[in-house]
Amino acid sequence: MRSNMLVSLADFKRPRVIITSANAGEGKTVTCANLAVSFARAGQRVVLVDLDLRHPDAHRLVGAHNRYGVCDLLSGRRSLEDCLQYLQLPDHDAQSAQGVYFIGTGPPVRNPTELLGTSRTAMMLDELGKQADLILIDAPPVLPVADMLVIGRMVTGVILVVEARRTTVTDISKTKDLLIRNQTRVLGVVLNKMRQRDGNYGDAYGYGTPYPAREASLQSARPVSKNGKAANGAGRRSAKTEALEQ
Ligand SMILES: Nc1ncnc2c1ncn2[C@@H]1O[C@H](COP(=O)(O)OP(=O)(O)OP(=O)(O)O)[C@@H](O)[C@H]1O
Ligand SMILES: [Mg+2]
Repeated sequence: MRSNMLVSLADFKRPRVIITSANAGEGKTVTCANLAVSFARAGQRVVLVDLDLRHPDAHRLVGAHNRYGVCDLLSGRRSLEDCLQYLQLPDHDAQSAQGVYFIGTGPPVRNPTELLGTSRTAMMLDELGKQADLILIDAPPVLPVADMLVIGRMVTGVILVVEARRTTVTDISKTKDLLIRNQTRVLGVVLNKMRQRDGNYGDAYGYGTPYPAREASLQSARPVSKNGKAANGAGRRSAKTEALEQ
């Protein structure tokens, strides 16, 4: 998947990529976190941003805190420096300082669409782009709310997660049409939660790893501040983290 993305993104400098899907629960956050780890392991400076203000979840998966984040930043209560957490990868090579930068959503707000639609969101992404090779954004689904379309215009493109046996062709088609009308580029599609017996997709190409690859596991990632100390409230593991281990 990383290789395919590198091809799609070859023409873009410091790309910003949203991971989204048609509906809730199709695997956006898991895919986004896995991709972040995979790119970090390949030596890229990656920032993972949780812009799913209605269902913030990425922090649990990566073992970071969500006491403050994007909402505080966009409303001017905190600086970018305050909100950025550095998560060192498990088994990292001490020389290579492999890790992922992360910004959670922070506390809930009443008006997520309006907040995301302000020029401050674009400014935040511009600022992050100065320090990162790649920005990966965990976003809300496209069909239920307008949030994704609002931020869709601020990024290089989106990767659409489709859940095997669940996401309908109609919903995929509606989602694609909405994105095209919104002038949001679809960089690729991920078929998630495939089982071995779903067969033909992967097998036809001779691959067929059905579930997240080992390299993507964040199972023992521990957030550290930039001076190397463990960040407060960090390191909790969730059911989703456990799912990655299976
Ligand atoms: N490839 C996978 N293999 C096994 N379980 C998975 C996989 N991808 C996601 N899951 C599980 O599916 C559930 C939904 O995943 P996730 O939270 O990533 O979806 P989401 O699209 O981000 O959901 P939401 O729209 O609520 O934010 C979680 O329980 C997660 O552990
Ligand atoms: Mg999610």
